[in-house]
Amino acid sequence: MDGNGRWATERGLPRSEGHIAGAKVFRKIVDYSHDIGIEVVTFYAFSTENWKRPPSEVAALMKLFKEYLTEADETKYDRRERGYILRIIGDTGRIPKELQKLVDRTQLDATQENTTTINIALNYGGRQEILHSVKLIAERVQKGELKPSKITEDDISAGLYTAGMPDPDLIIRPSGELRLSNFLTWQSAYSELYFANVLWPDFTTDDLDAAIMDYAKRDRRFGGV
Ligand code: FPP
Repeated sequence: MDGNGRWATERGLPRSEGHIAGAKVFRKIVDYSHDIGIEVVTFYAFSTENWKRPPSEVAALMKLFKEYLTEADETKYDRRERGYILRIIGDTGRIPKELQKLVDRTQLDATQENTTTINIALNYGGRQEILHSVKLIAERVQKGELKPSKITEDDISAGLYTAGMPDPDLIIRPSGELRLSNFLTWQSAYSELYFANVLWPDFTTDDLDAAIMDYAKRDRRFGGV
């Protein structure tokens, strides 16, 4: 969800106003993703590198996450009935305790088919996630449960925060930047990439449609011919 800061600066507003506008767009795109039947959608909300931002900006973001997670907790059963479940992916052991509690409370398993899983990547870093998985594997090796020669790609995938979820078909980056910035590093190996030249607070359901229509025209070969 990139470009919030630039969007605010262009309007002479503090960067936190860009995040507030971005949070509104996030809610709209969550609903639209569900309406059009996307099974899993992952939003990059806070990276392991974002702690380097000024404390006031970090605090403003944590406030927005708290508001959203509180709302998600209060409405979780109703949302599940309507076909949404929430997952938080990332190193949640290092986010503020009150957010950790909310994260635990909001996670419900799906009870019906056609459910959309909304992943929010919070304190997430792709390399950090791979490292986390490698440590789990090393522990199994140390205990004698797994031989190094028997380690598979599936073992690595199983230790990621997205275990059990499909790899992303399409990754959309708004704001005109042409990089993935540590997002789903392992899972994106064969993802189609789409770069939208629009700042996240200006991103609309039409932009999502355009990305999906572009994706639909692509020929995915996964290394084959
Ligand atoms: C990157 O834009 C955006 C972020 C680091 C924060 C994204 C978070 C939200 C949209 C808040 C709402 C989220 C939820 C889940 C309620 P940037 O600030 O780096 O923009 P810039 O590159 O223009 O400076």
